[in-house]
Amino acid sequence: MKKKLYFGRVKSRKISKIKENSFKKYLKKKNIKDLTLKKKLILEIGIGMGENLIYLSKKNTRKKIIGVDPFMNGMVNVSDYCINNNIKNIYLYPYVFQKFINRFKKLRFNVVYILFPDPWHKKRHRKRRIVNEEFLKKILKVLKKKGKVFFSTDSINYFESVKNNLKKFSNIKVKKIKKIVTIKTKFYLKAEKKNNKINSLMFTKH
Ligand SMILES: C[S@@+](CC[C@H](N)C(=O)[O-])C[C@H]1O[C@@H](n2cnc3c(N)ncnc32)[C@H](O)[C@@H]1O
Repeated sequence: MKKKLYFGRVKSRKISKIKENSFKKYLKKKNIKDLTLKKKLILEIGIGMGENLIYLSKKNTRKKIIGVDPFMNGMVNVSDYCINNNIKNIYLYPYVFQKFINRFKKLRFNVVYILFPDPWHKKRHRKRRIVNEEFLKKILKVLKKKGKVFFSTDSINYFESVKNNLKKFSNIKVKKIKKIVTIKTKFYLKAEKKNNKINSLMFTKH
């Protein structure tokens, strides 16, 4: 039996046919297959509504930014924004990360963002968490030397489990980040509203 990899909603609101069609066209035009090994690449896993992806694309106009998330409203929101604002360096993959990493084995990344992944608070659901040892192994394999990974969460249990898993790797340097790692995303703002403590870390591959 196939292992279930996504537990969220693919759509939260109806997407118009026009937007869906322009998204399909966008995917054909900005095909991840066309990205070469020479390019500087930034990857965001679980883009949500895509605020950080759009911010990164403007801050890093010479780099290519890839967003991975099965959540269609976010994907369509980003493609719509790119079309209307002439943004050319964003590439989208509307499926789970696990599928992405198997499909594009040759890509290597300079920076990776994982911001507020679904926390799965209940003990019996924790195995659904995306950032586990297996995930970290995969990320380290596709991270360039000196490449960085940023991780933020407002779940203290998730944060501690990631920190513990990172101890199993010898080729990295882990640093706790006190400041915000990028802009305030939707889930950053939600955590702030609830007065939840936000923990972030960065690890670098050497
Ligand atoms: C809690 S939201 C955070 C969204 C955004 N990063 C933010 O900070 O606002 C988690 C996101 O991860 C996505 N996600 C869940 N499982 C995933 C997977 N296996 N691969 C890629 N994205 C995934 C969800 O669809 C959702 O958009």
